[in-house]
Amino acid sequence: MEANIRNLISAEEISAALEKMGKEISDDYRGRDLLMVGVLKGAFIVMADLARHISVPVAFDFMAVSSYGASTQTSGVVRILKDLDNEIAGKDVLIVEDIIDSGLTLSYLLKSLQVRRPASLEVAALLLKEGIQRIPLDVKYVGFRIGPEFVVGYGLDYAGLYRNLPYVGVMEET
Ligand code: IMP
Ligand code: MG
Repeated sequence: MEANIRNLISAEEISAALEKMGKEISDDYRGRDLLMVGVLKGAFIVMADLARHISVPVAFDFMAVSSYGASTQTSGVVRILKDLDNEIAGKDVLIVEDIIDSGLTLSYLLKSLQVRRPASLEVAALLLKEGIQRIPLDVKYVGFRIGPEFVVGYGLDYAGLYRNLPYVGVMEET
């Protein structure tokens, strides 16, 4: 498929932001055990790179949810495609997201995890689209605040493609 992708955030900028975020998380969770919950598929690259900047003991689990079909518009419908493997009661849970757009996915996830009684529940997202959350959300760790454009790369896809780009770019109409 032909597409024009304009570089928005470079690999170097992402790497520096994740290093900073990892240090902050390590400070905040010092003396505790952390459970990082990655939201598949988009978060797999952020999760892997962020985790390597975290110095407290950390365990991993993954959930898969779907809110978009092959479109660039949010559907408002969230489906759990894969739930966590383990219980989270009493654990310090950090949800790792690639991007927060309308916030519908995250608010659904927060609700469904909160009732399982974790010791704490926070969110780390590489990208936050500013000003368009339909639901006010408390995202503790944010890499970059971006505009409303549709982005790909670094885990983010369009119709399943471009997740492997080492940078974040904007899809431009051709
Ligand atoms: P939300 O529920 O609208 O916040 O959307 C969250 C999910 O939609 C993200 O985890 C992504 O999988 C996807 N998404 C939202 N915006 C973009 C984008 O600009 N590019 C690629 N995927 C996106
Ligand atoms: Mg996602």
